[in-house]
Amino acid sequence: MRKVASGFSPVIAVDRRSSKPLHKQVYEAFCAAIVGRNLRAGQRVPSSRALAVELRISRIPVLGAYSQLLAEGYFEARSGSGTFVSSSLPDQRLSLDRGNHIAQAFRPGRRLVSRRSALLPSYKPAPWTNKWGAFIVGQLAFEHFPFQVWSGLVNRHVRNIRVTSLHYGDPMGSESFRDTVAVYLRTTRAVRCDAGQIMIVSGSQQALDLCARVLLDPGDKVWIEEPGYWLARHVFTMAGCRLVPVAVDEEGLGVAAAIKRSRRARAVFVTPSHQFPLGVTMSASRRLQLLDWACSSGSWIIEDDYDNEYRYESMPIASLQGLDRHSRVIYIGTFSKTLFPSLRLGYIVIPADLVDRFLAAREAMDVYPPHLYQAVLHDFIGEGHFARHIRRTRPIYSERRNVLVESLRREFGTSVEVLGAEAGMQLVAALPKGVRDRSVSKQAARRDLWLWPLSSCYLEKALRQGLILGFGSTAPEEIPKAVRRLRTIIESQ
Ligand SMILES: Cc1ncc(COP(=O)(O)O)c(C=O)c1O
Repeated sequence: MRKVASGFSPVIAVDRRSSKPLHKQVYEAFCAAIVGRNLRAGQRVPSSRALAVELRISRIPVLGAYSQLLAEGYFEARSGSGTFVSSSLPDQRLSLDRGNHIAQAFRPGRRLVSRRSALLPSYKPAPWTNKWGAFIVGQLAFEHFPFQVWSGLVNRHVRNIRVTSLHYGDPMGSESFRDTVAVYLRTTRAVRCDAGQIMIVSGSQQALDLCARVLLDPGDKVWIEEPGYWLARHVFTMAGCRLVPVAVDEEGLGVAAAIKRSRRARAVFVTPSHQFPLGVTMSASRRLQLLDWACSSGSWIIEDDYDNEYRYESMPIASLQGLDRHSRVIYIGTFSKTLFPSLRLGYIVIPADLVDRFLAAREAMDVYPPHLYQAVLHDFIGEGHFARHIRRTRPIYSERRNVLVESLRREFGTSVEVLGAEAGMQLVAALPKGVRDRSVSKQAARRDLWLWPLSSCYLEKALRQGLILGFGSTAPEEIPKAVRRLRTIIESQ
């Protein structure tokens, strides 16, 4: 049986002045907690001794209540391990309606949720998300992660924990870690920053949310890439902004078209190093055009530099922020692609004049980031493991990418166009006319292939149908077989 969090005492209000005997009060409180489903099947209950101490009563009434609950089948005793809520309670005992459904609290004319949250589409994970296996986007070659080194560092910090790191900390994040991140960004990305401008956050997503809170008001227009990163779209949507989709071509976001459509937009969200999902690198002239526009219109550029460490045909590209002489760029990065996404660590480089506002918003949001993994990552980077890990994994991803591109060519010839394979851990296979990507993705999910449909990245009508194929977690010997399976699915359309 699955282990359930256990040993907690349920809420039992013992009233010594009541005429009801104590054992009956304890018995009824457990019955109510079980029938009300606050205590679930298989959950451990506290020992009679522990409960008696907690309720400040003698053990005798507790023992009386427990023996009745055992006799009636609410509890079961497992020798040597304690007393549990029975794992096989009949359904009718649990069928009492708790009567607190939201509909009963609903009053006509009153909104149930905020207008902001109602703007988001409903949360329905698609069949191709959060799985494990061939082509899932965002999964990495975890088998090549130096877990021994990592767990050694985690142990070091857990064993030598200091009281100062148990208390509240700096809303910007730990200063020594921010110093390390600043060195990394200045050196590898030509980001113009010092540690005082770096805020540590729980990944790019929190960074985007903070940007929206600090910089944008409901009704503000925001240019977004089309097709683009839907989780960024959701943040701006929830902030009440008006999204202006701007087509991406082979030079990146179409700045001239965007200016024509909405010169006075308040902000733009871009992925200039490796556009998500098409994979293009924004050209130098578009970068300068974008900076000029932001400077002349007083708008913000939110630059998401999410996977630039992995480029296969050139050195990492310098950031757009590094070209900015007028503090218009907010630069966002993440460790989700280089280490692992569940780490939930990322950073924002904030123009110096905005640091105070970001600090105030951060404090109101989650106060400050957890300490432990900042300390671990500080050492991981400082001791050279991070740079080594990237150097070691670059050829691994490069090989996976090459095998995937070759397999696609072999199976599909020129009928499938490969886009955006120069960097990162995913590419796009643009589908021939008449093939619907969602239908392919749905069928593929039934055969253990997890493909994101390109059309889901469009806000407006999808101009292209294609499949976003992650190659990070698929071993090179698996890729040709998986592509062959994909071919049979596409041919059956
Ligand atoms: C465009 C883009 N930005 C950022 C991220 C990473 O987000 P996070 O740091 O919240 O894990 C991803 C992950 O897939 C992405 O595709």
